[in-house]
Amino acid sequence: MSSKQDALKRAAAEKALELVQDGMLLGLGSGSTARYFTEGVGRLVASGMKLRCVPSSRATAELAAELGIPIVQELLGAIDLAVDGADEVDPNLNLIKGRGGALFREKIVAAASKRFVVVVDESKLVKHLGVDALPVEVSPFLWRTTAERLIALGSSLTFITDNGNLILDLTFDGGIDSPVGLATAIKVTPGVVEHGLFVEMTDTCIVAGPAGPRMLGRSAVARHETGPDSGRGPKGRH
Ligand code: 5RP
Repeated sequence: MSSKQDALKRAAAEKALELVQDGMLLGLGSGSTARYFTEGVGRLVASGMKLRCVPSSRATAELAAELGIPIVQELLGAIDLAVDGADEVDPNLNLIKGRGGALFREKIVAAASKRFVVVVDESKLVKHLGVDALPVEVSPFLWRTTAERLIALGSSLTFITDNGNLILDLTFDGGIDSPVGLATAIKVTPGVVEHGLFVEMTDTCIVAGPAGPRMLGRSAVARHETGPDSGRGPKGRH
């Protein structure tokens, strides 16, 4: 990663820190962009803000513990604000996530949040999802059978996740035509634990480019711009 891209990731994450308020329960994402957000939350806690968090991966949990951010183990009620990175973001703010292997917990955290904010540098914006691989987490039990079913939809590679499951990376020639349809087709495949399509879940996307970070809200995706408070809405179930 270039230092320029790294600076943009940091700028997006810093912008998201402006949304944090005293007393909030935060969902902490995974990956290099989300790490900047977690580090910022650590600074807010050190300065006296009362915050608690639900980390979305082992790595984030370790970082949060090092930074002294109180971690919630059992969730009662909703997360106030979850902030996470993404691998691809389409114009409807649908996402591919999980190339870092943490998609299972990331999706639960996003779905449990009142507001799900995605932080990216502008290289993550795509016209159609599926420019690169879509990770799908599957149970190791009879996983080759699951893979055969999924191969009808793409091609695959594997690695092990935090949960001890396998990831199949599906690639699609020409990209993904219908994220909603594909999300459903993958989800109903026996053996699939979770997939990296986050459809209709993003409330706000903070995109950092050379002109600075800007906020895109789901309610205003048609024009691809909005103010900081827009974009609240119910989560999709994909
Ligand atoms: C991990 C993720 C990450 O958020 C995604 O891979 C983006 O990572 P980065 O911020 O390092 O580019 O989904 O499972």
